[in-house]
Amino acid sequence: MAGDGLAQALQALPPDWHGHYFDVVDSTQDEARAAAGLGAPARSIFVADYQRAGRGRQGRSWLAGPGDALMLSIVFRERATPPRPWRWTSLASVALAEAILELLPDLNPAIKWPNDVLLNDRKVAGILAETTSDGEQLVAVVGVGVNVNGAPADLERVSTAATSLRNVAGQSVDRGQVLLTLLRRIDFWYAKPWPELHGAWLARLWRRGQRLRLLDLGTEEEVVVLGAELDGSLRVRLADGTERHTTTGELIS
Ligand code: BTN
Repeated sequence: MAGDGLAQALQALPPDWHGHYFDVVDSTQDEARAAAGLGAPARSIFVADYQRAGRGRQGRSWLAGPGDALMLSIVFRERATPPRPWRWTSLASVALAEAILELLPDLNPAIKWPNDVLLNDRKVAGILAETTSDGEQLVAVVGVGVNVNGAPADLERVSTAATSLRNVAGQSVDRGQVLLTLLRRIDFWYAKPWPELHGAWLARLWRRGQRLRLLDLGTEEEVVVLGAELDGSLRVRLADGTERHTTTGELIS
């Protein structure tokens, strides 16, 4: 949606955020990672109207037409020992779910393990957290892609399981507002102890306690989703009552 307030929102970031805006870029992840390597401070944010080569998890591409999506990457730095890369994925997903709710209170966002935000069981956003360590610090580049104003036909081309805020809310949504609300929720959770954030993440976990199919390393089985460990691995109960963890599986409804 050209002409919404995305570029302007970069001029109104909350304190301590450092904004960089691109009309077109290959991937904001690459911009953020390169800047992090040159010493960009924590809370540096890279936002694009359009990406030529957006990336998702597991080597997938992330596609959105110009003006349709909110696409951003944030640099975080962490000195904790041991480092907790999972924290950044949960921080972004909880903050985004709450931002959606703040702007569109009738919606019911859920977090699908490991990195999706869903509305009505369809993916509206994905998170891609990529971490590196320089021995002293963990550097996390956290990418967030939100389908904001994609029309049904465009979304169908990407995936039949995708939706957009506009699709669900029945009205177009200003990406700048989504951005600024998201950053405020990130600031809120950034200051909280990890167990509290983890609790908020669990409370929004999609289909928690329900039976689902888990596709993992070529096998598919019925599981009940129990939660996640603090390292981010998914905890499930199998049909025989035993529990196990996975970092590689995919949940199917
Ligand atoms: C996923 O669904 O697997 C994660 C998608 C992450 C997409 C965002 S868009 C902004 C940032 N730049 C990228 O190339 N990817 C992330």
